[in-house]
Amino acid sequence: MKEAFLECVIVMLAFLGCNTQQWASPDTLADTLDGDESEMGQAQCGNGACEREAGENCLSCPEDCACACGDGVCSFGEYCATCPKDCLCAIPPKTPPMGFNTWNHFHCDVSEALIREVATAMVEKGLKDLGYHYVVIDDCWQVARDEDGTIVPDPERFPSGMKALAEYVHQMGLYFGIYTCAGEKTCQGRPGSFGYEEKDIETYANFGVDFVKVDWCYTEGLDPRQRYRIFADAIAKSGRNMVLSICNWGVREPWVWGPYTGTMWRTSIDITDSFISVLFNMEQALLWGGFSGEGHFNDPDMLEVGNGGMSFDEYVAHMSLWAMLASPLILGNDVRKMDDETMTIIGNEEVIAIDQDPWVLQGVRVRASESGQVFYRPLAEYGARAVLLLNISDQESVFGFSLEEIGLRNAGARVRDVWSHEEVSGEEGGAGGEGLRFKVPAHGARMFVVRGEEHLPPSGESYLSDIRWMFSVGSLGPVERDMSNGGSERGDGQKLKMRGKVYEKGIGMLASGRVLVYLGGRCQRLQVFVGLDDSAKGEGSAVFRIKADGRLLFQSPLLTLKDEPLEVNADLTGARVLWLEADAGGDSYHDDFADFAMARLECE
Ligand code: GLA
Repeated sequence: MKEAFLECVIVMLAFLGCNTQQWASPDTLADTLDGDESEMGQAQCGNGACEREAGENCLSCPEDCACACGDGVCSFGEYCATCPKDCLCAIPPKTPPMGFNTWNHFHCDVSEALIREVATAMVEKGLKDLGYHYVVIDDCWQVARDEDGTIVPDPERFPSGMKALAEYVHQMGLYFGIYTCAGEKTCQGRPGSFGYEEKDIETYANFGVDFVKVDWCYTEGLDPRQRYRIFADAIAKSGRNMVLSICNWGVREPWVWGPYTGTMWRTSIDITDSFISVLFNMEQALLWGGFSGEGHFNDPDMLEVGNGGMSFDEYVAHMSLWAMLASPLILGNDVRKMDDETMTIIGNEEVIAIDQDPWVLQGVRVRASESGQVFYRPLAEYGARAVLLLNISDQESVFGFSLEEIGLRNAGARVRDVWSHEEVSGEEGGAGGEGLRFKVPAHGARMFVVRGEEHLPPSGESYLSDIRWMFSVGSLGPVERDMSNGGSERGDGQKLKMRGKVYEKGIGMLASGRVLVYLGGRCQRLQVFVGLDDSAKGEGSAVFRIKADGRLLFQSPLLTLKDEPLEVNADLTGARVLWLEADAGGDSYHDDFADFAMARLECE
């Protein structure tokens, strides 16, 4: 009887045509029904009374019950942001979080009036529809702890309380975020969460918080890995999904343990509203590209676009770089009052689409000279690459890129300028030379989506180290062919060697890193030996993964130098793109010299 009822509810949900992800989880649904089983028979639909105690709700008994948040059912018109009590939310998100944070523009001048106005502006100006979903209050909302140790929001600035404010933000279809600090005090000297982590997270869960940024001031002598774990566990215990934004400025390598702890982690010091700061933070995030991926992101800090300290071209470069790096896009300007230039930059859907590409590959820099820098990242679409040309000099510069260096065949390609929204020829400043050439403004950038042809794998058997790759990213140096990772230069490693045995062919990288190879559905098999290279000298460890088109084909346990290499034979039938990943494994990346030895493909 109960099952039949459940089935009926599920059929109704399907009938209403909504995304199943947005509905209450079967557990929640079953709990709702379970709890009311004894009185179930007493309910009478159509008697005008909504007997919730007896299991009636707006779906089981729409004649009597109006749909309401909190009835345990994700009803038509309710979704995770408007009705988080009832509907499952995609939190944490798979692609970099987008939203707004008060700090960069308002510093301590925060209030509920401001948050309401910001949320309203985000809806009215279309920012919400562009994907900017999180509204986060940074430092200074808290003033004290009460006698129970519960955190107390500033009663003058937040007279209605945080719960009411969260409800307002949710009603606008947005998520609500808050800030705390792992130390005894926040960076502005307000009460921090040290010793109150679980209590604070529980309080935030009661407020309805969806995102918590945890800072790192007043933490002398503390171990961030351990302290942030406490927050992660408290979030899990609270039963509420929250993005955990680790803000410890890169102290003790958060990119290593961050993916196992939170959603995003800062890679550097605070951004300021200047081009030099944008470049500095970009450089830091760039070092750790192999650690970023679906659901976990390097965070070069919030955007400064619109705050007035940089030129239009500099802000374009800032936004382009953040999108290239698959960074969280957290607006730091006054979104209530924006000029058209600001809106053009933060509202560029083509640039946002690059940032939010489902492959979540942090872009790499393939060339850097005085005249210009070239970055690229593959996009999930066949043959597509995002390409960024950055000119940090004081003069306009003409430079470009070749299709080969972005991993495409040297054949015809279409180039779309995602800032001018037009197809371009790539002959600005004269044809020839290094291929496609563009004028890039001083302190500025150009960004493109290039659509070309992938390299096909050769027929028969071939070593992966002998063929073209779509993309590779390693740590502290490039991914190497037929040698281990040495240092920062290409080709500076040694012969691949595991447990004393030398392997002539294969791929070597320092974890975390990855290589993508286009297969085009033409290959049947991959054979490879994975393990730690002897150059690891006792300390290294890594987890090896082999994926194809989002499917996990193989995952090793955490391997160390003590382990024999594992032989993997992966069935690649039908696979379009092969991913080889070595993950530092959450402990440390030091000495994590990971080998994919004798990696060999069999293709048609
Ligand atoms: C630190 C953080 C900033 C901001 C301030 C608030 O500096 O890195 O992002 O949260 O604290 O005090």
